[in-house]
Amino acid sequence: MNLCTGVDEIRDALRAARAEGLRIGFVPTMGFLHEGHLSLVDLARERGCGFVVVSIFVNPTQFGPNEDFSRYPRDEARDVALLEARCVDAIFLPGIATVYPEGHATRVRVSGVSAPLEGERRPGHFEGVATVVLKLFNIVQPDLAVFGRKDAQQCAVIDRMVRDLDLPVELAFGETAREHDGLAMSSRNAYLSPEERALAPRFHAALSEGVAAVRRGASTDEAEATMTNALRGLPVEIDYLRLVDPRTFLATESRDCELLAVGAIRVGRTRLIDNLRIVAPSDGATTPAT
Ligand code: PAJ
Repeated sequence: MNLCTGVDEIRDALRAARAEGLRIGFVPTMGFLHEGHLSLVDLARERGCGFVVVSIFVNPTQFGPNEDFSRYPRDEARDVALLEARCVDAIFLPGIATVYPEGHATRVRVSGVSAPLEGERRPGHFEGVATVVLKLFNIVQPDLAVFGRKDAQQCAVIDRMVRDLDLPVELAFGETAREHDGLAMSSRNAYLSPEERALAPRFHAALSEGVAAVRRGASTDEAEATMTNALRGLPVEIDYLRLVDPRTFLATESRDCELLAVGAIRVGRTRLIDNLRIVAPSDGATTPAT
């Protein structure tokens, strides 16, 4: 396995793989890996990638000034061992100065789908994500890049960027990997105390109740009230619980398209996000396309 920290180094490894005619798959991450990340490696393999690259970079530009950049969990040695066990072909582990050299001044802003929900609450977040993902795409030049539906709005932002800029990369979106009790796997789950961890699956349960309400014919307001009621009285702070169109992340009353029950809550100091897709019975459409 290639462990690369420099741009030239990873490009050399990729040049050799391409010369062998291998399809290049890419999974960008911020490390502290769990089964959700690793399932994306498997998806790249299933989609025919003979050479899979995983990047690990805690990207400072996607964290707000009062967010958890400095305390974001990191364990490089464990991550490398997990990726080695999954037979990943190359790991790209750049330092901050490699990604953002002195004088770096270019930013990528995807408007529209970046604006509501996470965009509203985390100003600059998606600009940081789009900027680093475009840079990583340019460094790795993958045939296929894989992202997780756990971060549904991020998937939509990247899908928009790829279309708008005619980036020559195919995208695939993996389903959310969950703990046995429904909690979506997340590096940030490591912040939860045992009491908070015991409470956290109620978030997924609330989203599931929202989905059930929609299936029973509830309006958008009713479905959102159902999700809110499911968390009533619990020591969690609801940031938002919404029913949205996954193309826009705006509210919709339409029931002919795919819908997303999406939310963010705070359990103690930890902010959790999650979502569940509701595929319209009529069309089975998926957005973004897999
Ligand atoms: P990170 O949070 O490390 O996630 C890396 C990838 O793993 C993302 O595509 C994310 O959606 C996916 N992922 C996270 N939890 C998952 C789960 N439970 N099941 C399936 N996939 C899951 O997302 C980022 O990093 C960054 O924003 C990044 C895209 C790397 C840009 O810095």
